[in-house]
Amino acid sequence: MGKADILIIGGGPGGYTAALAAVKVGYSVCLIEKTAHLGGTCLNNGCIPSKVLLDSSEHFAQAKNKMQIHGISVKDVTIDIAMLMARKKTVISTLSANISNLLKRQKVEVVAGSAQLVSSKEVMVTTPEKTTAFYRAEKAIILAAGSIPLEFSFLPFDGTHIVSSDTALSFTEVPNRLGIIGGGAIGLELGSVWQRLGAQVTIIEALDNIAPTMDAQIGRALNRYLKGQGLELKVKTRLVSARVEKEEVLTVVSINDQEETLVFDKLLVAVGRRPASKIMGLEEAGVKLSEPGEKVIVDECFQTSLPGVYAVGDLIDGPMLAHKASAEASAVVDVISGKKSEIRYDVLPGVIYTWPEVAGIGLTEEQVKEQGRSYQVAVIPFAGSGRAQAAGETDGQVKVICDGFNQKILGVHIIGSRAADIIDAASIAITKEMTTHEVYSIICAHPSFSEIWHEACFAASVSPIKKSN
Ligand code: NAI
Repeated sequence: MGKADILIIGGGPGGYTAALAAVKVGYSVCLIEKTAHLGGTCLNNGCIPSKVLLDSSEHFAQAKNKMQIHGISVKDVTIDIAMLMARKKTVISTLSANISNLLKRQKVEVVAGSAQLVSSKEVMVTTPEKTTAFYRAEKAIILAAGSIPLEFSFLPFDGTHIVSSDTALSFTEVPNRLGIIGGGAIGLELGSVWQRLGAQVTIIEALDNIAPTMDAQIGRALNRYLKGQGLELKVKTRLVSARVEKEEVLTVVSINDQEETLVFDKLLVAVGRRPASKIMGLEEAGVKLSEPGEKVIVDECFQTSLPGVYAVGDLIDGPMLAHKASAEASAVVDVISGKKSEIRYDVLPGVIYTWPEVAGIGLTEEQVKEQGRSYQVAVIPFAGSGRAQAAGETDGQVKVICDGFNQKILGVHIIGSRAADIIDAASIAITKEMTTHEVYSIICAHPSFSEIWHEACFAASVSPIKKSN
């Protein structure tokens, strides 16, 4: 029987971050990963491949439509999808090898195989060769098995016409008509990719607007920009049914109680992900789930109902984000080693990598109103920035919301170029409970995109105080 102080199931951002943190405090670690690649969904089927495709497709769109304003004319712009996908694979394998080398250097034992929880101390591993081995945890087991795409029970993925994000990240050619159910991060990012590469994309979203978790004003701006780029956005529209007939997906949707049939070549279902909690024998071993196949229930120390067994990341409650998983991974190792740890879930940045990018942190204006607070708010357009004008990237705005009494920053919401990077400065400001004046008094490089959020902090601090109710 193999043994280690800590056994970790899953080699994604939750699992490998926990492994590195545990080694740092002196534990021996064994990490079990069922696929041939480390990095989890984020690296293999999520954040990284989607960013590769988003960046490449944005270069293509720039060359086709956006270079002219700089006096650059580009003729006969073409895209080689096979080359694009090959580059994606290279980026993934480079990063996966980096993780593997890092774990090796830190003496983490990586075991290839599928893990089943046997007890609070024991895990059974079935290797790719179908042999079984048992591992014992002297101190703790950390579950970090991530999540899988959610599929409708009446519409299973078929891998060709009705597809998940895993498949839509690897299409070998551009679909003519791509339907997407779900206007969340996955639908908008993959919709942008394939629209830029030439597909006619229709996004079907059940709620009032796309990106429903973002500040509504920013969501409306995103709606306008994406429509301007040619994406068709059908909001307040629900999927009723779909069937494949003669290579076409006949998709019945309901808009204002009226049914309509839309015809696509491929239908991407992007209505969320579900925890990968079904196949590890968790319930049999005594780990409570919120429902069969759903979230693993943990206490404030990430401990499951089985003492000594912990869970982090997409398996447990909260947004399914890589940076949330890695924060929880570091925190759980602190807990296991007897230290106190706290995660500021209220300061978790969310980003959608469309063009322009969208990023938000803290409270939205709707949430501030719901809380009945008095607040100040300002919205500054990118068009006012020298750097944005120089770059020709004037689409966008920064919204800063601060408390009406003490001007502490409550929320920052950005749509515009480099929003994903600017948001980290806002994250520091909110975490450190800074006021709009404190941010504005820090000297910022000029000209820069970051200046816009400084300007918005100043504008918020001198704006009239609003009362929520
Ligand atoms: P999501 O939960 O973000 O969005 C799904 C959307 O589908 C929602 O807006 C929902 O209203 C809509 N929907 C649900 N049922 C529907 C129906 N029957 N008809 C029409 N619309 C329907 O899920 P998504 O985009 O699949 O992402 C899954 C997870 O992955 C999320 O937690 C997300 O945050 C994460 N992710 C994060 C990214 C990032 O940080 N940039 C990128 C991609 C995914």
